Parts: sequence; C-alpha cells; structure tokens
Amino acid sequence: MPKWLNDAVFYEIYPQSYYDTNGDGIGDLQGIIEKLPYVKSLGCNALWLNPVYDSPFMDAGYDVRNHKQIAPRYGTNEDMKRLLDTAHEMGIKVLLDLVPGHTSDTNPWFLEAKKAEKNEFSNRYIFTDNVWEAPSEYRLMCGICQRDGNYLINYFSSQPALNYGFHEVTHPKWQLPTDHPDCIATAEALKDIMRFWIDMGADGFRVDMADSLCKNDDEKISTAKIWQGVRKMLDEEYPEAAIVAEWCHPERAIKNAGFHMDFYLDHYGNGYSKLFRYLDKDGKNQAFFHKSGCGDITAFLDEYLPNYELTKDLGYISFMTNNHDMPRATYYMDKDTIKLSHGMIFTMPGVPFLYYGDELGMRYQSELVSVEGGYSRTGSRSPMQWDSSKNLGFSTADADKLYMPVDSHEDAPTVENQKDDPDSIFKVVTDIIRLRHEIPELGNGSGFEVVYAEKGKYPFVYRRGGYVVFVNPSDEKVSIPFAEGVEEKVYIIGEVSFRCKKATMSPSSFAIIKTK
Ligand code: NOJ
Repeated sequence: MPKWLNDAVFYEIYPQSYYDTNGDGIGDLQGIIEKLPYVKSLGCNALWLNPVYDSPFMDAGYDVRNHKQIAPRYGTNEDMKRLLDTAHEMGIKVLLDLVPGHTSDTNPWFLEAKKAEKNEFSNRYIFTDNVWEAPSEYRLMCGICQRDGNYLINYFSSQPALNYGFHEVTHPKWQLPTDHPDCIATAEALKDIMRFWIDMGADGFRVDMADSLCKNDDEKISTAKIWQGVRKMLDEEYPEAAIVAEWCHPERAIKNAGFHMDFYLDHYGNGYSKLFRYLDKDGKNQAFFHKSGCGDITAFLDEYLPNYELTKDLGYISFMTNNHDMPRATYYMDKDTIKLSHGMIFTMPGVPFLYYGDELGMRYQSELVSVEGGYSRTGSRSPMQWDSSKNLGFSTADADKLYMPVDSHEDAPTVENQKDDPDSIFKVVTDIIRLRHEIPELGNGSGFEVVYAEKGKYPFVYRRGGYVVFVNPSDEKVSIPFAEGVEEKVYIIGEVSFRCKKATMSPSSFAIIKTK
C-alpha cells in the first residue's frame, strides 16, 4: 500500500476546461502546470487528470486512439513529463486516467482487428463469428466492417470493447475463455501502457469502468482476477503507484480485485445519492443533505458501514464532491448545505476527491448543448472560473472559440471573488482540508464510529478518534442527548452549544469538537 495515500486529498481536473495558456480556447498541460500552486493552496496534495491521450474525442477522451501519446491539443509527452516533475517538486502526486475496457474505433489495434484477414489483433476485441450472428443480450455494432462479424461495444458506439475473455462461455464459436493467450495478451498490453506512464513519473491511475473487463461475469470473479494480476505487478515493480477504481462496490474493488481505493459514486438508489443527490419535491426520497430535513441518514449508513468494515484494513473508500459525470452539487443543494456536505466529505475516513470548481460552488450549466459526448454531463464540465477578466480568466480566445461557454451569470463565483470571502464555500473547503492534514484522526488516523444517527432524524454525529463531528443540514434547530465533555470547539458553522448533557444545533450547522 503506497504510504502517501494515507494523507492524500485529491483534486480532479478536467483538462479541457481548466486553463488555456496558448489562446486556442481549450485547456492545456501548461495551464495545469501554471495552476499547481493554486492546487497546493487548496490543501490538495494529489491530482487526477481525465484522459489526456490522443483521441477523436467522441467521449471527451475516454475513446483513446493512441495510449502513449498526449493529445496535441493539450501539449506533448515532454509537457506531461514537465507537469509530473513540477508537481513532484511541489509534493503533488498525479494519477492519470486509464481506460481498460475499450478504445476508440480509430485505435490502430481496432483498425487491424476489423480487417478480414486474420492478424495479431483479430482477438483484441470481441467479434461474433459471422455478421448474421447478433445475440440480443450483447450490445453489438453490426455490418460495418470488412471482417465477417459484429463487434461488442462497451459504452458509446465508437468504443469497441477490448477482449479479456468471457467468464462463462455461452457461444463457444466466438467467445474466448479468460485464459486464452489472446485475452492474456490484452491484459499484458494494459500493463505495458501502465508501465509507460509510471516510468515517465505518473503516480498511478484512476481506472475507468474497472468492473467492465470480462464478459458474462456477473459476480466479477474473472474481472477481479485480472486486477489482482495488475496489483501484483504494481506491488513488485512500482510499490508507490496507486490505483483507484470507478466501481462503487468497495468489497469487489478493494477486497476482491486489489484496488487501493474505490470511488463512492451516485449510482441510483445507493448511499451517495441518498446522502447528497436525491431531490424529490414530495420529500419521500429526499437526500439527507437538504434543508427540508426529510432525508434519512440510516439509508446511507446501512450501505456504507458494511462496506467500510469489510475494506477498512485493505484500502480506502473515496468520497467525492462530484465528478465530470454527475450534475454539480449546486444543482441539488444551496450554498449553506454544500458547505456542510463538504464538511462531512473531508472528515470521513478514506481518500477524498474535490472536483475542480466545487471549491467555488460553480453552477451546473444545465442549458449547455452536449460537447464531446457529454450530454447531461456537459453542464458540469464548463471552464474553470478564475477571475473577472475575459472568459473569467480561463482563456484569451474569443468566446465563440471556447471549448465550452463560461458561466455568464453576473454572480458567477471565481477564485478571485471567493478566496477571501469569509462566507464562501472556498473557505470551508480549504479550512477543513487543512484540519484534515493537521489532525490525522480526522483523516485515516482513527476509525469511524456512529454516535447519533436515527431513522428520519437530524443531526448526524460521528466520532473520529478523540474528535466528534456534528452535521445538521435541516433548517430546524435540533437537540440531542450528548453527555461527553468538550475540550475544544475546533470548527463551527452556525451555532452549536453543549449544555445540560445536550448538544443543540442551529439550522444548517456543523461542528468538529475535541472531547475530554
Ligand atoms: C466513465 C467515465 O467517467 C465517463 O466519463 C465515460 O464516458 C465512460 N466511463 C466511458 O469511458
């Protein structure tokens, strides 16, 4: 286990939208290099960059054409090396994005695979054995290549699935078992890509759709085996490199597959949604973090606690403020509530991730038309808002040349107008991240224990070692029995008092206390 993860706080950068230094309207690696001091000032000591590889960008770069080349619009491989070196000099680790489940349909492997004549890459993707064979249980592209067969896609139509084999072979004429040499070759090709970037200085990878490798693998048994092989390679060759799964199933990702971390994402009906993302007007399915006070913290804990217990000695669950696939928090919560939700995210065990712009409370721009396969996700990918200059400081290009429009609202938050505002989300985020580094018990230096969590009631109270965290997102004053002595009020939002063996919290309040 890489030791640095213990105190890591990540910042996710969507490179297209971060900072444009050459005036072409799109973010670049040089822009990220120039903003590293800003990342550091947030208290983040690690970065995750969305894909920066050569790509036709049908899915914002998750359709890789050349795995070993930086997309010219972002810069060169030399720029990436400079970014890694500069980040390391500043004590910042960098994870790149690894897309193991599919490539672009313009990737040279695929161009070979779709040829009629057999070649080294014929089994790199999954083709049926003739074009009339198209079983409806698979997502297939039919009748579009010279080769007599249809191929499986993993996500969009332009993303053919790589072939790691079938856990259960149901169509033996064209499905290969996972131990077929050509499927093993796919896994080896993946390791080769990982070695390339780690050798350049990358500190590991965020792994896209990590559970999607083997097909007919409902329990993810064969998929986990491949990741165990990857973990073995890392342990032996690069013990300081880390991998975080986009899986949202910590038991499978961390315990079975050997990932160091697993994201806690907004999958329908899960604990993350019930905490931060449900928005039912009738209050039946309201998130806990909402002023209505109709949420249910136990709906989150019933899912989170078993996962935490199963994985706490093996790896880290990664809470995130948002990512490039979910509507931003501002779509669901007001500013007061976002502050409290960030208060919780950065005082939980695990390795937290801050999505660029969430430190400002950037708006979810729901009105934007889709860019590069973003669709409803586009509104969370708009340019970073730096200051009041042209394009909010993102780029000097004319507005019609921008990758995406910047927030045009008069009151658009920027780094410039938020960083010294005592009432800002920025202040809460940077304060709590600082405390997390200063007091290891608020991070991974202690366990997690529920102190008060009642079905349908507020607040939520949990212990982190010698500290107790109180959260009341509702717009009602609440009071609960709390007999412990308070040595110090470490951080307070709103009003929180401790008298007569009770803790009383004003509407929308938060506290971290040190107990006696
Ligand atoms: C998950 C990524 O986060 C998303 O942005 C992408 O479109 C899909 N995987 C496909 O790679």
